[in-house]
Amino acid sequence: MQTTNYDLLLEQARAITAGEPDLIANLSNISALVYDALDDVNWVGFYLTREPETLVLGPFQGKVACLRIAFGRGVCGAAAATRETQRIEDVHAFADHIACDAASNSEVVVPLIINNEVVGVFDLDSPSIARFSEADAEGLTRIGRFIEQLNWSQ
Ligand code: SME
Repeated sequence: MQTTNYDLLLEQARAITAGEPDLIANLSNISALVYDALDDVNWVGFYLTREPETLVLGPFQGKVACLRIAFGRGVCGAAAATRETQRIEDVHAFADHIACDAASNSEVVVPLIINNEVVGVFDLDSPSIARFSEADAEGLTRIGRFIEQLNWSQ
C-alpha cells in the first residue's frame, strides 16, 4: 500500500478549485481527485446537510449510494453528530453501520463544519479492512478543513 502525500493532494485540491465559486462543481472535482489519488478505495464523496439533522447524498465517485442519512445513524451520521473524524477499521464491527455497498470494509468520515454548523461530511470507503491509517485520517481531515473554506454560500 502506497502512502498518500496529503501535502500534494491539498495543493492539487487548491489548484482545481481556484477561482471557481460553484460548490457542486468543486465538490465533484475534489471527489474525483481523491478517488484517483488513493489506492484501494471504492467510494469517495460527500453528504450535505440539506434538511435539519439530515445528510443527503452529494457529489461522489463510486457505486450508487444511500440517499439520506440522519445525524447519529451509521458512520456518516456519527461524524455529523460527534463532529469528529471517524476512522473505522472494520465497518461490520461498527454497530449501526449503513451498508450501501457490501464490498466496503473500512471507512473514514470527516465532518465539515462552518460557523459551528455541520454542513456535510466527506466520506471515503475501502474494500480492505483497516485501509486507512491514522495518518490518512489526519490528512483527510486537513482536506476537510480546506473544503470548509470553499464558497458554501449558495
Ligand atoms: N457506510 C456509510 C454510509 C454511506 S456509504 O458508505 C457511501 C455509513 O455507515 O454512514
